[in-house]
Amino acid sequence: MAVRVMTAYVAHELNHPLGTIINLANMLSRRLADSAARPKDISEHLRDIKAEAVRATSVIKNMRMLTDHRPTAHESVSLVEVCQDTIARMKPLARSKQVKIRLEVRTAFVRVQGVKELLETALYNFVINSIAALDGANVTSRLVTIRILTREPGETAIQVLDNGIGVPASILDKIFEPFVTTRPDGNMPRSTAASGCRSGT
Ligand SMILES: Nc1ncnc2c1ncn2[C@@H]1O[C@H](COP(=O)(O)OP(=O)(O)OP(=O)(O)O)[C@@H](O)[C@H]1O
Ligand SMILES: [Mg+2]
Repeated sequence: MAVRVMTAYVAHELNHPLGTIINLANMLSRRLADSAARPKDISEHLRDIKAEAVRATSVIKNMRMLTDHRPTAHESVSLVEVCQDTIARMKPLARSKQVKIRLEVRTAFVRVQGVKELLETALYNFVINSIAALDGANVTSRLVTIRILTREPGETAIQVLDNGIGVPASILDKIFEPFVTTRPDGNMPRSTAASGCRSGT
């Protein structure tokens, strides 16, 4: 079971950065074939490719988290930056799916102890779920809201809300268990980085 979870974790978390790198490299090839390509666009693509590669490296580096049940190295992280960077990373996908992603900061306590890349990976997985849930949803505007808030003293939480039909009642009580899915192609465990964590300030 441990090997299965570990393999699925690595496959799940590497899938997105590697897929993005392939897409960006394809876009870069097309740009380079275009004589009107601007150096600024090319360097932006290269920057994004590098960022995704760093993310993939971080997944591997933090695999120890699964065996130690904790991230390898904590740092002071701004959740606002986590959210903003994730939103920027998801912009092309959100645009293509006509989804608007909005950030609401409702607390002053936005710094936590954690691993920035892992928090971003966790948030990315939640937002991907929302975008998938909104695909084909019968709504006039598809909206994902990422909210940073304090629900009780000493805690900072991130909520991801969307205006889709919601999680099916049949899986609500086991939604955070590994391998629970209603998607034919979705059978891997999500990141174990917490969506709510102790405030660092
Ligand atoms: N925002 C959401 N709206 C509606 N249903 C959701 C939402 N997020 C998750 N779900 C439901 O919970 C299930 C489990 O989600 P989870 O992210 O664990 O796996 P998955 O998205 O199906 O597959 P994977 O993440 O491995 O690609 C989904 O299949 C979906 O049915
Ligand atoms: Mg998912």
